[in-house]
Amino acid sequence: MTLLDEANAKQSAYWNGDAGQRWTALQESQDRLFTQITAALFDAAAPKPGEKVLDVGCGAGETTLKAASLTGAALGVDVSEPLLARARERAAQSGSPARFALADATAYDFSGEAADLMISRFGVMFFAETAKSFANLRRGLKPGGRLAFVCWRDPELNPWLMTPLAAALKHLPPQPETAPDDPGPFAFRNEARVRAILEGAGFADVSFSPRDFELDYADGGGLDNAVDKCLAIGPTSRALDGQPDATVQAVREAVRAALATYLKGGEVKLGGAVWIVRARA
Ligand SMILES: C[S@@+](CC[C@H](N)C(=O)[O-])C[C@H]1O[C@@H](n2cnc3c(N)ncnc32)[C@H](O)[C@@H]1O
Repeated sequence: MTLLDEANAKQSAYWNGDAGQRWTALQESQDRLFTQITAALFDAAAPKPGEKVLDVGCGAGETTLKAASLTGAALGVDVSEPLLARARERAAQSGSPARFALADATAYDFSGEAADLMISRFGVMFFAETAKSFANLRRGLKPGGRLAFVCWRDPELNPWLMTPLAAALKHLPPQPETAPDDPGPFAFRNEARVRAILEGAGFADVSFSPRDFELDYADGGGLDNAVDKCLAIGPTSRALDGQPDATVQAVREAVRAALATYLKGGEVKLGGAVWIVRARA
């Protein structure tokens, strides 16, 4: 990739490696899982016909395609080749006006975009140098342009991710030490930190709305579906990277037991808590 900020090389490798392939394979299931969250994000972002939208860390393009269908013009930027290939394939299949750029959002030249709106569904928590990244993102917006993104709140408010992880960790060697603000799903859990990042990058009118959801990890397909998904993507799968088969099997059984309590019909629903963050350039 030509447009990569070196500080994000580790995340880029992650999203371009096996994890990116597994996210791509689970695109439809993930988009169903996040249906209500996507709706909440679009309520807050309020894209209007004729507006130009930028989607940061757009992944397989669900929110870019939705934005383009509402406004007529959206550009998704993502560092992951497999996820972006899926996004482009979906745009071609549906005749969407959405465009996509394979790039690190920290390094991409946004200066010619003059967008009305910038959105992101869980795509802005993976930057190593947040000040630099958000200063660059702001260049993509017109003066007064809107920013609206969704990110996870505290881990303890997100049992849908932490319950399987806690079960898995009992069978895993001690994990590498990480700092709470390191790039990752929970890097933007702290309102004060995110406000400081945004205001430091020149955004104004920063606001946070907490929203809670019940998320069906099984996608209606029963316990095994939920377990497979936990082991394929997200924090439990990250913790399993490079582990021997016997450990993976022990974790699979532990996660299955932990999630069995929540099985109802074909669903395995646990709580997920997000911030809807809004600001203006
Ligand atoms: C949790 S996924 C969310 C994807 C998508 N927005 C969705 O909701 O399905 C995080 C996304 O951020 C992308 N990403 C991570 N770091 C990035 C960076 N520096 N620049 C652009 N995209 C990045 C990843 O490749 C991945 O697609």
